[in-house]
Amino acid sequence: MADQLRFDPRVYETKTCTLDGRSVTYRAWEGLAYCAKPLDPIQKLSFFVPVAYYEGKRPLGLALDEVPIFMPNTVGGYMPGPADEPRLDPHGSGPNSIFCALEHGYVVVSAGVRGRTSGKVTTEFFEGSVGGTVSEATGKKVGRAPAFIVDYKAAIRWLRHNADVVPGNVERIVTNGTSAGGALSALAGATGNVAEYEPYLQAIGACDERDDVFAASCYCPIHNLENADAAYEWLFCGHDDWHRTKHQRTPDGGFIRVPDEGVMPAEQAALSPLLKALFPAYVNGLALTDEDGSPLTLDADGTGTFADWVKHWVVASAQHELDTHDNERNRGQLQVAGSQIDVQDYLRIVGGRVVDLNWGAFVGKITRMKSTPAFDALDLSSPENEEFGDEACDGRHFSAFSAQHSAVPGAQMADPAIVRLMNPVAHILEGNPGAAKHWRVRHGSFDRDTSLAIPVILATLLANRGFDVDFALPWGLPHSGDYDLPELFAWIDNLCA
Ligand code: DHB
Repeated sequence: MADQLRFDPRVYETKTCTLDGRSVTYRAWEGLAYCAKPLDPIQKLSFFVPVAYYEGKRPLGLALDEVPIFMPNTVGGYMPGPADEPRLDPHGSGPNSIFCALEHGYVVVSAGVRGRTSGKVTTEFFEGSVGGTVSEATGKKVGRAPAFIVDYKAAIRWLRHNADVVPGNVERIVTNGTSAGGALSALAGATGNVAEYEPYLQAIGACDERDDVFAASCYCPIHNLENADAAYEWLFCGHDDWHRTKHQRTPDGGFIRVPDEGVMPAEQAALSPLLKALFPAYVNGLALTDEDGSPLTLDADGTGTFADWVKHWVVASAQHELDTHDNERNRGQLQVAGSQIDVQDYLRIVGGRVVDLNWGAFVGKITRMKSTPAFDALDLSSPENEEFGDEACDGRHFSAFSAQHSAVPGAQMADPAIVRLMNPVAHILEGNPGAAKHWRVRHGSFDRDTSLAIPVILATLLANRGFDVDFALPWGLPHSGDYDLPELFAWIDNLCA
């Protein structure tokens, strides 16, 4: 039987993309099937290679078969993430990561993956997502958990299946994503070759290959969902007012930002301390340590060395911005209004050193974005509830707390095995030998889509387990990604040097 998943390097188009006076010329292979039994039209990938390699040039000083394969996903809001191409970033911040990666000299693979709204057409919009209509109205809910990571893995396996003919080095795959896409990148990094995904991979006809990756780049990963509600209240308990921005699509394909604010009613606010009280046991069970090996723990009231550790990362971020004003100068448009380092009155700065930060005032400054519980909504209305649904049940709880307090009679709880398939932390904790060795995690210090504790736990756990981790909470940045691609690329190049 012919190998229908065999890559044919001869069938390509040469394309040029010019944006903001910059130009990239590349070979493009588009719309390639990466699995033999797809369930949704989105399950295709595109492959791009800078044409320079075919002109005898070595943009990175590497031969083509040594070049990293940059694999950004376009997932946002746990929605489907279609394969993309070089173009302007939908958030208006210039050329997208595919364009920039090609310009830099990487091989780029963009794989389309299913998401929670697969099968229906919606106008929902999330940071990191590609924009436009992301799914076809097939009516089939085939994109619920763990579909997105199954598809990403299938695309990675496809690359290995074709290792002898694809351009680039399949042992240097670097995943990248923002928010739910950052969670997807973290999952790819954490769950390489984990057998639990096998039945799902077989169901879509994925290649029988390894699916581990070299490095994972994760911008504000919205992950560790079953612990994220407690982490959120650990940070925001006592702050009952919430402040968010809704993104509404416009008929011309753009979007507008609409402010949305409120105060939690007393009965909802009353849940906050209950959730907060669950967090110390979770953190203490992780047995995290700082660089010196000292335990990072929380007392019952939420204070303790772990709390100091989170604060330490925020102070380090403030110090970096004070020293460089890097975000103010280079990402001023993106920075949260009023977050400029020189006007933060909760910082105590002596002789150019940030010597203290008033935690309560800082938390009051960044504000709560989500009401309680932040992720596992009692009425099953959150994106994450939908993510844990399926054809039989549209939305489920995924935490014991929300299942107990559910407002929906007969509400179901997600299968714990599926919750595990969605949590990179669970697999790092278990010591998966197929996990990526190299990690870069970024979460803006003003990003309230999830608790600051969540990325700190991921980065600390990885470092404790001996992984190579580059972690920061860039000052003043909101929920966003791809804002420092030159630094990301320098990090990747250094890994390959
Ligand atoms: C995203 C943001 C959220 O606040 C969330 O709960 C899930 C996903 C996102 O931007 O992808």
